[in-house]
Amino acid sequence: MKMADNIRLTGIERFIEGDEIIVTKTDLKGKLTYANDVFRRISHVSEAECLGQPHSLIRHPDMPRCIFQMLWDHLQNGQEIFAYVVNRALNGDHYWVHAHVTPSFDESGQIIGYHSNRRLANKETLTNTIIPLYKKLLQEEQRHANRKDGMKASLQMIQDMLSEQGVEYDEFICNLSNQSMTAPTYEPVAKTANG
Ligand SMILES: Cc1cc2nc3c(=O)[nH]c(=O)nc-3n(C[C@H](O)[C@H](O)[C@H](O)COP(=O)(O)O)c2cc1C
Repeated sequence: MKMADNIRLTGIERFIEGDEIIVTKTDLKGKLTYANDVFRRISHVSEAECLGQPHSLIRHPDMPRCIFQMLWDHLQNGQEIFAYVVNRALNGDHYWVHAHVTPSFDESGQIIGYHSNRRLANKETLTNTIIPLYKKLLQEEQRHANRKDGMKASLQMIQDMLSEQGVEYDEFICNLSNQSMTAPTYEPVAKTANG
């Protein structure tokens, strides 16, 4: 079964406590080898249901393919990556995360698996930047009958956007998360006519 085809979505967004971290580890193919209790709770899965399964178990259909392509390109090159991801819990709820994904190495420097630590994503960053961007990327992917062509086009689209802004992907994401840490969380008080 292709995950994106017949999956259930409730439209209900789920959250974790501020200091909790959603952690998973995978083997070289992206099959889950570890999932912490926070991951299992928010994803609505038991250990038995998720260990040994591909990480795409919780893939949400709103995620553009090109983001995962960039994730795998970084990881297989031995590089870490930060990414905003929306995941689908198995009951159809969803949650947005800011993920930090890294390769794990053995003593000889060989990659032996991958590791993801995720915190909840900042709401303003999602609303102002990530959700509209992912929508455009996904639309571009869906315009093409062929998956490969779609992903090539969406990768080009994000590359063009980054070049326009004069930044690399890593810098773009880093700037977004820095902004969200310094951005005020309150609404500025509107000034009245007499100040
Ligand atoms: C350590 C690690 C963590 C990952 N975390 C997620 C995740 O939280 N959600 C997700 O959809 N894919 C995640 N992926 C990517 C999946 O392996 C997969 O590429 C993605 O779900 C797209 O699947 P598809 O190509 O079958 O559409 C992760 C991969 C690795 C290596």
